[in-house]
Amino acid sequence: MTDPAPDFDAVAPAVRDLDTIVSLSKRRGFIFPSSEIYGGINAVWDYGPLGVELKNNVKRAWWRSMVQERDDIVGLDSGILMHPQIWVTSGHVAEFNDPMVECATCKKRYRVDEFEAAADLGPQELLDPGIVERLGLVCPNDGGPLGAPRRFNLMLKTFLGPVEDEAAVVYLRPETAQGIYVNYRNVRDTARKKIPFGIAQVGKAFRNEISPGNFVFRMREFEQMEMQYFVRPDAAAGHFEEWLPRRRAWYEAYGVAPDRLRFREHRQDELAHYAKKAVDVEYRFPFGWKELEGVHNRGDWDLGRHAKESGENLEYFDPTTEERYIPWIIETSAGADRAAFTFLIDAYREEEVRGEKRVVLGLHPDLAPYKVAVLPLLKKRPEIVEMCHRIKDDLKRHTMAVYDDTAAIGKLYRRQDEIGTPWCVTVDVDSLEDGQVTVRDRDAMTQDRISADQVTRYILDRLEAARPRAT
Ligand code: GAP
Repeated sequence: MTDPAPDFDAVAPAVRDLDTIVSLSKRRGFIFPSSEIYGGINAVWDYGPLGVELKNNVKRAWWRSMVQERDDIVGLDSGILMHPQIWVTSGHVAEFNDPMVECATCKKRYRVDEFEAAADLGPQELLDPGIVERLGLVCPNDGGPLGAPRRFNLMLKTFLGPVEDEAAVVYLRPETAQGIYVNYRNVRDTARKKIPFGIAQVGKAFRNEISPGNFVFRMREFEQMEMQYFVRPDAAAGHFEEWLPRRRAWYEAYGVAPDRLRFREHRQDELAHYAKKAVDVEYRFPFGWKELEGVHNRGDWDLGRHAKESGENLEYFDPTTEERYIPWIIETSAGADRAAFTFLIDAYREEEVRGEKRVVLGLHPDLAPYKVAVLPLLKKRPEIVEMCHRIKDDLKRHTMAVYDDTAAIGKLYRRQDEIGTPWCVTVDVDSLEDGQVTVRDRDAMTQDRISADQVTRYILDRLEAARPRAT
């Protein structure tokens, strides 16, 4: 399933230097370091006014294609805190580890698989006590000696109730999936779903990552968009093959360049403890090809174990064939932050227009924070400003629109280009006479003259026309 070479290093990232995106994000209010006035907290990021719109739009687009437009998938919103036994049963307490080494002098800790020499090794090899010596690994920070690898569990713990003892320990979920499995029977029975059917969930997940980084790529608090598809065991392989291209196509439909996406199948020795088969949709980030989303065949691992441990019957009875079985699960597991980050990177472009640099975020209109900006050509004329506000207020009943008069029109256009606003509406002196305004298109930079009364309809029609069809 891994895409065959051509030489993938030949595919250039959309943006060479990650700092371009980091500084745009800070400058324009997409993403800020968390707790900045206290010096920050590692691997947690906050979304600013534009970032929260972008991320909400990503989650909405995902929900639209996974739940709203399908008859076979329903939604769920389960708790972040769950019965601690769930994580024992699921295997996360015992198996959700990264092999880690610690420097004897500076005490910094590293994931073993992040050393280039160890990048292709499987989990067992990464835990080999002789690996540091064999590969000649030293501390990247101060060149100090590294200890033998140890397992480091990635789950974050807290306490429930007033007593902080072992009996009160609960985990902050490291994946949203388990909330779906333990609700499988509730949803199946109340939504009256027949197999195959799916349950989708968007929500926070937490991992005590040893080496977070690359901006919002690897965080300790993040959001997942997961869908668990319950199928007949003998149909699982076929469903897997359907979901994989469908998930890649979703990113393409929202504008990601197809040549910056690829599939990578996990080798047997790198599969997560729950997976029979796993293929990642990878994206060509500025720092390499990395996982964007995983599609997993989890077999009956989760429902089988939860049935056994809880003593509850989680079998499915098929009324047509009169068979009983534990459904197998095909999972599509995406990160909302990683997807938003990908759309941000892939949309970024710099162009020259009439001898000047223009920075454009060519975001799909459904993902853009603002769909439209309403701008006065002359802010000194109160009738123009008033007309702008009338148009903007009408638009705001339907979609995200903004008014701006803090610079000359050329600069206002550039600002909207840089945050991805697909359309700008300009009101000028003639508008007062003929009731017409100019609509400027971000990408083509064409200008249409339309009646002010028609602006909302025009923008909503263009949004509708741009929206991807169900796949
Ligand atoms: N339920 C399966 C599961 O959680 P995963 O491959 O560990 O699978 C799925 O995670 C997706 O969640 C990843 O493809 C990524 O988009 C996102 N993700 C995982 N860890 C993350 C982190 N530390 N920061 C941001 N996103 C993360």
